[in-house]
Amino acid sequence: MNNLEKLVASAQQNPGVTLEQDFYCTPEIYELELTRIISRLWMMVGHVSRIPEPGQYFLYEIGQESIIIIRESETVINAYHNVYRDPCHIQVFEGLIFINLSEDEPPDLETLYGSYHDFAEQQGLARAKIANMKSYPTRANWKLVIENFFECYHCAPSHPEYSAVHDRLKILARGAGKGTGPEAAEREFTPVFEQWETESRAMGHLTGVYPGGNEETGDVRASRTFIQKGFQSETMDGKPACKVLMGNYRGFDGGVTVFVFNPMSIVQATNDFAVMTQFTPRGVLDTDITFTWLVDEKAQEGVDYDPEDITFFWDVTTRQDKTITENNQAGVLSGVYRPGPYSIQEANLSRLKTWYLQRISVN
Ligand SMILES: [Fe+2]
Repeated sequence: MNNLEKLVASAQQNPGVTLEQDFYCTPEIYELELTRIISRLWMMVGHVSRIPEPGQYFLYEIGQESIIIIRESETVINAYHNVYRDPCHIQVFEGLIFINLSEDEPPDLETLYGSYHDFAEQQGLARAKIANMKSYPTRANWKLVIENFFECYHCAPSHPEYSAVHDRLKILARGAGKGTGPEAAEREFTPVFEQWETESRAMGHLTGVYPGGNEETGDVRASRTFIQKGFQSETMDGKPACKVLMGNYRGFDGGVTVFVFNPMSIVQATNDFAVMTQFTPRGVLDTDITFTWLVDEKAQEGVDYDPEDITFFWDVTTRQDKTITENNQAGVLSGVYRPGPYSIQEANLSRLKTWYLQRISVN
């Protein structure tokens, strides 16, 4: 049994605590993660509207690889390794471009996420355009970045804007999804949530949860919740950031639709804008957080929206998360770090740990 197998076996015996230090800083483990986990995932890399004309391209940097994504024609977008021009797997799902670096044939996106179409169409993801893009290079291991994203235990103390915009009881009860909060909070929140669902459906909108179609991708789903009573969008005053509704929405219901494709590829969307969130490992202690803000393709900048208003909420929250995560990394690197227990509001992290340990074990 080698060292990694011992570490994995020990971690699997202790599902309720964080991973050992080695997982967050050892180059050999990071290299294995790239081969066994990252290169087998469909990584969301951008929106089709970034390269509308044949011949247009952009670069996607992951690990030590540079991938070029190029529009060949009106209907064809290809991806190649930038140096050797070897093609890599690419698929477009509802306007979102995904690449897969696996040497084997990966599962079809349609098989994995076919159940997301109803929400994606309601949101109009394929009929969107880019309002803004920002990158937040973060000096931390990729697992610390996604662990931070998938729990909201830290939201009240660390994110004053997030906590002002989002319903406090919702953060407590379902900060990181249903079943991630204390039972008493969930009991109090359930009727409030059901009331919102009833109102949203009365407007003709879809609500609910659509599970991702494949266990292989971990705990994935598309779901809808609401921001906070009286809030139409994720803005400080709750007013819309864009006058043009996205997709098929018939009005502002104040909902947020979240599409989790895998822990590295997430889309969150209000009635008026969507935020593509990408987490990309660049080195054992380096991760890129990339946001692409989308609005309806008919919305006019300066007339219907100001990119600054669209960007504000997730920009301020992500700059805070970058600091928190970099501090976490410094803590993990310290000689006195020991795995600590997850709180009830970090139930997602225990699931994430199981997902990770399964995949790092498969050659
Ligand atoms: Fe956060």
